[in-house]
Amino acid sequence: MSKPFAGKVAFITGVSSGIGAAAAELFAARGARIAAVARNVARGQATVERVRQAGGVAEFIQADVSDPEQIIAAVRRSQEVFGRMDMAFNNAGQTGVVGAFHEQTLEAWNDTIATNLTSVFVCMQEEIKIMLGQGGGAIVNNCSGAGVMGAPGLPHYTAAKHGILGISKVAAKEYGPHNIRINSICPGFIDTVQMNEFLGSDDARARVSAGIPMGKMGSPETIAKAAAFLCSDEADYISGDTMFVDGAFLCR
Ligand SMILES: NC(=O)c1ccc[n+]([C@@H]2O[C@H](COP(=O)([O-])OP(=O)(O)OC[C@H]3O[C@@H](n4cnc5c(N)ncnc54)[C@H](OP(=O)(O)O)[C@@H]3O)[C@@H](O)[C@H]2O)c1
Repeated sequence: MSKPFAGKVAFITGVSSGIGAAAAELFAARGARIAAVARNVARGQATVERVRQAGGVAEFIQADVSDPEQIIAAVRRSQEVFGRMDMAFNNAGQTGVVGAFHEQTLEAWNDTIATNLTSVFVCMQEEIKIMLGQGGGAIVNNCSGAGVMGAPGLPHYTAAKHGILGISKVAAKEYGPHNIRINSICPGFIDTVQMNEFLGSDDARARVSAGIPMGKMGSPETIAKAAAFLCSDEADYISGDTMFVDGAFLCR
């Protein structure tokens, strides 16, 4: 595999499973050194170990992204280890408690907004500060189909994901003059732990797959490839954009 990311550093959140793990492995295979952030130490370290076994460079950094102080500390640690940050993939997120709108608790609302939206806001702030000092960079935020339509039972998740698209566009406009590109990805149904827990059964998986024009759920690697493209020089005039990676599920 060619190494277009040689010499670059990528800060990636949610590396302990699913899309984030796939992204850490792909970015590393393309030559980036990885600041690999997640809460779960064993699973986060396992991703880092796979990167190293494949000849890549990665450092696990434990952080709960729902706590802004822990994000700030994680970015500081990444800078201590690698000394620069060229790319960031703000991917960590949770589905949140599924339930009727009028029965959702404020606690569940605040938890999912903190984990899925405030986290991305704070990550972007810290990443942008570094990229401003370096003369540029690329940030990709992992959104969702729920960023553009309502997901019944998930008002907090839907609000957070709509918010990600909004703040990504604001920052793309503010930091375009500083050579910092900011884009979002809206995955459709991707075959990860989070999605399978949400769907709950093989029957539900089959029904969902049948409703996707391309007839199947996507793989975590598919989203990792989209994130890598948006971070790469191939995407050097793409900013403020929302990329749907969904087997044509969400197009209208
Ligand atoms: N799978 C899909 O179909 C789909 C569709 C649309 C959007 N997405 C989005 O894609 C992203 C990744 O999801 P996934 O499907 O790959 O799910 P996943 O396999 O459950 O991975 C979620 C990752 O986020 C991390 N995370 C969750 N809460 C965290 C917290 N408070 N602090 C730090 N890390 C945290 C988890 O790490 P720890 O467990 O170690 O904390 C894990 O590494 C999410 O933002 C999700 O909303 C997924």
